[in-house]
Amino acid sequence: MNELNFKRHRRLRTNERIRSMVRETYVRKEDLIYPIFVIEGSNVKNEVPSMPGVFQLSLDHLDEEVQSVVALGIPSVILFGIPAEKDDVGTGAYHNHGIVQEATRQVKEKFPELIVIADTCLCEFTDHGHCGVIENGEVLNDPSLKLLAKTAISQAKAGADIIAPSNMMDGFVAAIRKGLDEAGFDHIPIMSYAVKYASAFYGPFRDAAGSTPQFGDRKSYQMDPANRLEALREAQSDIEEGADFLMVKPALSYLDVMREVKDRFNAPMVAYNVSGEYAMVKAAALNGWVDEKRIVLELLTSMKRAGADLIITYFAKDVAAWLNEEK
Ligand code: PBG
Repeated sequence: MNELNFKRHRRLRTNERIRSMVRETYVRKEDLIYPIFVIEGSNVKNEVPSMPGVFQLSLDHLDEEVQSVVALGIPSVILFGIPAEKDDVGTGAYHNHGIVQEATRQVKEKFPELIVIADTCLCEFTDHGHCGVIENGEVLNDPSLKLLAKTAISQAKAGADIIAPSNMMDGFVAAIRKGLDEAGFDHIPIMSYAVKYASAFYGPFRDAAGSTPQFGDRKSYQMDPANRLEALREAQSDIEEGADFLMVKPALSYLDVMREVKDRFNAPMVAYNVSGEYAMVKAAALNGWVDEKRIVLELLTSMKRAGADLIITYFAKDVAAWLNEEK
């Protein structure tokens, strides 16, 4: 065989001890952010049909959920709100006693160490389901910015540790940064949904949050899945406007974009492993067609390998439990 010249890569794969010495990427509990849907009303614990294991929870069921997140060692949650009433300007989003504001206060009072991230958008609170204000069937940019800044300030007042605007209006980071600074919250970071595609993968979330647009779609503000350079322009603007974290969303179909964003911009990067990605894996796992634990860990590892520092995932509790078992 000495006439063949080749490299023996298998030497470093001989056994688990050697493999773990050369492993490049790890998923850690510290990387995880768990999404929670809080709903106005009492005694509500509705499982979302397309998201088995994920619930809409009223405030009287919130503590038990947060307690289990904290007990597993997950450092952070992101809150989404479902109001009892909606209107055309999304008043519930920036009301001081809105559902996200009340939930934030409750969580920070009982679990002060847990990092609470508030999703800042109007779509769950508008009767038309769009992420901004509407005039003649158009989503208006600049008038929406004022409401988004107002929303962020009310969330910071309620005790949110991080503001995460997801609405995709132009200038939303600049408007929110200015609003927060003027209101005395210059210490509160912005986790910008900088690169957010108009994706079919948000379907189950819209069931969970009741935020399906009542007419049209989100393609005039969320990005075309075909575009890569546009993602870099979006990320650049958000960095210039003062974003502290950059998010890429969805995760799985956009790992290439993540890698480029990470290589170009010096900011912590967040992958959003979205509802449709969760639903696909759950459906296959519930049918016994895939090994859920291995599939999920492989998926999250691919996001870390693509450069993500943090991952928002509906699997966070399962992953934390699996990681705890290994210890
Ligand atoms: C609000 C928002 C959405 C998601 C997060 N924030 C829905 C949307 O843009 O339609 C989707 C998250 C998921 O699918 O898990 N704008």
